[in-house]
Amino acid sequence: MGTEEQSGQKTAASKIAPATGKLGVMVVGLGAVATTMIAGVEAVRRGLAKPIGSLTQMGTIRLGKRTDNKSPLIKDFVPLADLNDIVFTGWDIFEDNVYESAAHAKVLDKDLLEQLKPYLETIKPLPAVFDQYYVKRLHGTHVKQGKTKRDLANQVMDDIKAFQKTVDRVVVIWAASTEIFIEPTAVHQSIEAFEAGLENNDIGISSSQIYAYAALSLGVPFANGAPNLTVDFPAMVALSKKNSAPICGRDFKTGQTFMKTVLAPALKARMLGVSGWFSTNILGNRDGEVLDDPQSFKTKEESKLGSLEYIFQPDLYPDLYKDIYHKIRINYYPPRGDDKEAWDNIDIFGWLGYPMQIKVNFLCRDSILAAPIALDLILFMDLAKRTPSLQSIGIQEWLSFYLKAPQTAEGLYPEHDLFIQSMKLKNTLRHIMGVDLITHLGLEYYD
Ligand SMILES: NC(=O)c1ccc[n+]([C@@H]2O[C@H](COP(=O)([O-])OP(=O)(O)OC[C@H]3O[C@@H](n4cnc5c(N)ncnc54)[C@H](O)[C@@H]3O)[C@@H](O)[C@H]2O)c1
Repeated sequence: MGTEEQSGQKTAASKIAPATGKLGVMVVGLGAVATTMIAGVEAVRRGLAKPIGSLTQMGTIRLGKRTDNKSPLIKDFVPLADLNDIVFTGWDIFEDNVYESAAHAKVLDKDLLEQLKPYLETIKPLPAVFDQYYVKRLHGTHVKQGKTKRDLANQVMDDIKAFQKTVDRVVVIWAASTEIFIEPTAVHQSIEAFEAGLENNDIGISSSQIYAYAALSLGVPFANGAPNLTVDFPAMVALSKKNSAPICGRDFKTGQTFMKTVLAPALKARMLGVSGWFSTNILGNRDGEVLDDPQSFKTKEESKLGSLEYIFQPDLYPDLYKDIYHKIRINYYPPRGDDKEAWDNIDIFGWLGYPMQIKVNFLCRDSILAAPIALDLILFMDLAKRTPSLQSIGIQEWLSFYLKAPQTAEGLYPEHDLFIQSMKLKNTLRHIMGVDLITHLGLEYYD
C-alpha cells in the first residue's frame, strides 16, 4: 500500500468515532433468540465457547491484491465495540429474567446455563409495550399502562434515557414476537402524521413501531429482526435521517431463506430453469406458536416469499422463471421445540427443458443461527452510528446480508443474493475505512 493510500485510509478511518466505553444493548423481547445471544456473548467473554457464525467476531476481510496476503479480522480492521464492553438490558411482556427465559426456551444446555446463571439472572426485563391486537397468541402480564400510544412512547424513551446514563452508547434491536400483517396507511407517511397517530391511538401503529419511534427520536439506532412493519415506512425513514439514527430490517435470515438465497443465485448463474419451489417447516418454540396464528403467519410469509422473485428476475428471464410455483408452509409442532426442520423441494429444468429435482432437508437450530446475526447487527449498527458517511443515511442497506426482506430506499429493489450481499457489506467496510474496493476483476495479475 502506497503512502497516499495509507493517508487516505487514515483520513476516512479517523473520522469514525472510536468504540470506547460501554455499548448498551436494549433488546425488545427476551425470548429464545435474545437469550441465546446474551448467554452466548457471556460464554464467549468467559472463554467457554467460540462465537461461531458471527462475521464480526470470526470473519476476515481481504485488503489489496491477492498477492498482498493481507486479510485481517474484521474486528481488527473496523473499530467495533469489544464484547467485554457490551451491557445488556431489554423489555418483555413476561417478568422472567434472562436465565429463566433461556431455561424456558431450552436452546442451550443446562450445564452451560448453570455456569452463566449468576450473570443471566441479573438481566431483568423492563415492562413492555404490548397490545394483544398485534400478537394474538400471547397474553402479556408485564406491560406498561398508558392512555395513548404517545404516553407509551414517552415511557420507552424514559427507559432508554435512564439506561443511557449508565453506558456510553445505545442500540435497540427487536427480537420480539412477530406481529400481525399491517399495510402502511396515511399515518405512516410522515413524522407529523405518525405523531398525530400516537396521540389518537391509530390502529396502524403497532407496539414495535412505538419502540422504534422512541429509539429514533433519541437518535438511537434500531434494527428489526422480525418480519413486522416497524421501521420500513416513510415516517421512520425520515425520523432516522433527521436524528442520525441508523435503521435496518427486516427478519433475521437464518435457515431456509439463507439456503434459498444461496441456491437460487447458483441456479440463475447457470441459467437453469425453475418450475416450482415448495418449502415447508416444522417448529415448536414460542415463535412457532405465534406463527400458528394466520395473521402473524401472513407477516412471515410475505417476508419469506420475496427473495425468489427478486433473485430470479422473471421479467428478464421469462423462459426460465416466469411460471415458478412458490409455496411456503410453517407448521407449529411442539415436540421439536427450537430444533426446526425445513424441507425444500425444488423442481428445476435444464438443457432442452429436461426436468430434475433438488431436495434440501435442513435440521437446524433456529436460535443458534439467529443469535450471531443479532450480535453482528448490533455491533454494525453501533459502527454505523459512529461513522459520518453512514449515520444520517437512514436505511443501512449494506446489512441486507443478515435479513430476509432487506429494507431499501424507496423504488429500489432489494439484493437477496447472499454473495452480492456479502460483497456489499465488505466493500462498505473498505469504503468507510478509505481503502480500495475489491471488484474481483483481477486482470492486473496477468499484465
Ligand atoms: N429464531 C430464528 O431463527 C428467527 C429467524 C428470523 C426471525 N426471527 C424472529 O425473531 C423474533 C424472536 O424469535 P424467538 O424465537 O426469540 O421468539 P420467542 O417467542 O422465543 O421470543 C419473543 C419474545 O418477545 C416477547 N414479546 C412479544 N411481544 C413483545 C413486546 N411487544 N414487547 C416486548 N417483548 C415482547 C415474548 O414474550 C417473547 O419472550 C420472532 O419475531 C421471530 O419470527 C427468529
